[in-house]
Formats: sequence, structure tokens, C-alpha cells
Amino acid sequence: MSARFLFTLLCLASAASAATVTVHPTETWPDQRGRHIQAHGGGIIKVGPNYFWFGEDRSKDNAPDKRYVACYASKDLVNWVFRNQVVQLTDPEHLGEKWVLERPKVFYNARTKKFVMYVHLDSGSYQFARVGILTCDTFDGNYKYLKSIRPLNQESRDIGQFIDDDGSAYLIFESRPTHGFFIAKLSDDYLSIEKKTCFIKAPLEGGALVHFNGLYYLIGSKMTGWTPNPNKYATASRLEGPWSEFKDIAPPETNTYGAQSTMMLKVVGTQTTSVIFMGDMWSPTSQWDSRYLWMPLEIGGGKLGLPQPRPWTLDTVTGKASILP
Ligand code: GAL
Repeated sequence: MSARFLFTLLCLASAASAATVTVHPTETWPDQRGRHIQAHGGGIIKVGPNYFWFGEDRSKDNAPDKRYVACYASKDLVNWVFRNQVVQLTDPEHLGEKWVLERPKVFYNARTKKFVMYVHLDSGSYQFARVGILTCDTFDGNYKYLKSIRPLNQESRDIGQFIDDDGSAYLIFESRPTHGFFIAKLSDDYLSIEKKTCFIKAPLEGGALVHFNGLYYLIGSKMTGWTPNPNKYATASRLEGPWSEFKDIAPPETNTYGAQSTMMLKVVGTQTTSVIFMGDMWSPTSQWDSRYLWMPLEIGGGKLGLPQPRPWTLDTVTGKASILP
């Protein structure tokens, strides 16, 4: 049986058997092989009926000199099929033994039919502060390293992705010397940055953005490395701003329930639209075991709140997310 045929069968099976599925935030999240998903600091795109999740693959048995990105596919956002370690890269820029490749974000360019991946590329001391760009003809093939850039000629560390309702694609990046972060529009082929859309003077990273009911909501985390902190949000009616002041997304003493933002995912269904907070609960000394905190957000009317983590159900067809009692 070919891998593609098997994938189709697995997708059909998961779609048929589970219209409503349950998310268990903070627990291990097994893929179809029973292995904890390796998609840390990740991002999700939807192409046709399929969701693809890309993230840092920190498997224990990875070669120490290489850095990896894994790709998973799903129709229901809960049952994930491991597809490939789509990046297995040796230090592309002489960054040294402890070099890092973090927070991969993949965009699908409908015009060029290419998948374009942005990654934070750095040395162990985080002085390189650049973005690496890779491409592939298929979502789960072996991505080819193209180049590294400093977007808008700025230092860039944590990156985030945003695709607006009109299909425009944006890179969010934190830039320490400016004490803030940028939202920048990608060029038509997504292989470079076209222009600055907005600079927000707030020292935040882990940038995540969503457009919901006519307002943009932006989440960022304070800069405390792997240690969780109170993540904040702001709103604007235009991407260019002005942005509101930043407020806590959860009671600050919980430090975002131990998580750090990586993305907000909008699930548009036949009945309703839900926005999911995707966060990483980092385990610095056992990164392969870092957990995921995904919860449906309480969002609307300029307010955003991350509920206390507990199991919840999701139906990607209707768009309904319900927190279990
Ligand atoms: C965090 C960042 C992670 C990683 C880590 C290293 O602030 O969000 O992606 O870079 O620092 O300490």
C-alpha cells in the first residue's frame, strides 16, 4: 500500500469516526504511531480539508548536530498522522555547535504552489537573530534551505505567522534593539518581506494574531526564555494599528497556566467560529516531552480570555468548541 493511499485512508477513518473529538491540554498527545507529537513552537495551516501542523521536532534520538521540523496532518485537529521530518538540517550558516532552528511556520502559496517555511535561525547565544527560509513542492516533502534574512534589516528572534481573511500572509517577529515587534507583509511569492505593516513598541515575543468579528487580536509573551510568564493581548481594528494597551489573557499569577503562545487558530465551521489558543509548555531539560496547551478562547467585543485548562471537545465541521464540565 502506498504511503499516500494509507494517509488518505487514515484521514477518512478519522473524519468518519470522530466528528467531535476531545482535546486533553497539558497531557502527552500521541500521533497515529502512539508517539508524543513533536511540533513545538509550531504553526498550523489549512489546505483544502486538511490541517497541517509543523513544529520543532525535539525527539530524543535526533542527531545532536542536526535540527528537525516535523509535519503532521489531520482533518479534526486532534487525530494527527505523522508525515515526515520535513527538515533535517545541518548548520547552514556556521552558527556553531549549539545552533538553533526554532518556531517553524509554513505558508502555502496558491500562486506558485509552493510551501514556504520561515524559521528562527540562531547561534547558541542568540546573536545571529535571523530568519531562515526553506521551500518545498509538497507539504510533507524534504524542505530545501534557500537563505537567511534579517527582515526589514532588523534583528529577528521569535517569529509568528498570520494569514488574513483576504489571503495576505504576514510574518510577526520580535526585535530586541527596538524593544518591540513587527508585523510584516510577505512578498507575492512569499520568499521575501514586502513591507512593514506595523511596529508595536512592546517587548513581547511568541507573537500570535487572529482576525475575529472585525477586530485583530494579538497575543505576546514576555521575554523570560523557557520560563512561563503572563501572556498579554491587544486589539486593533486595522493591522496597521493603533493597537490598544496590552492586558493579561489569564490571571497573571498562573503564568498563562504554564504555557507560552505560539499561534491562534481560527476554526470556521458551518455553525460558528472558534479561536484556539496554541501554547507550548516547555520542558527545557527534556524538550521532547514539552506539552501543548490548547484551549478555545473566550473572545469577542475587544475582550480575550484563556480559560483554565481542562478537556474540551471540538467539531471542525460545525466549528463548535465546548469545554467539558
Ligand atoms: C523563548 C522563546 C523560545 C526559545 C527560548 C530559548 O523566549 O520563545 O522559542 O527561543 O526562549 O530560551
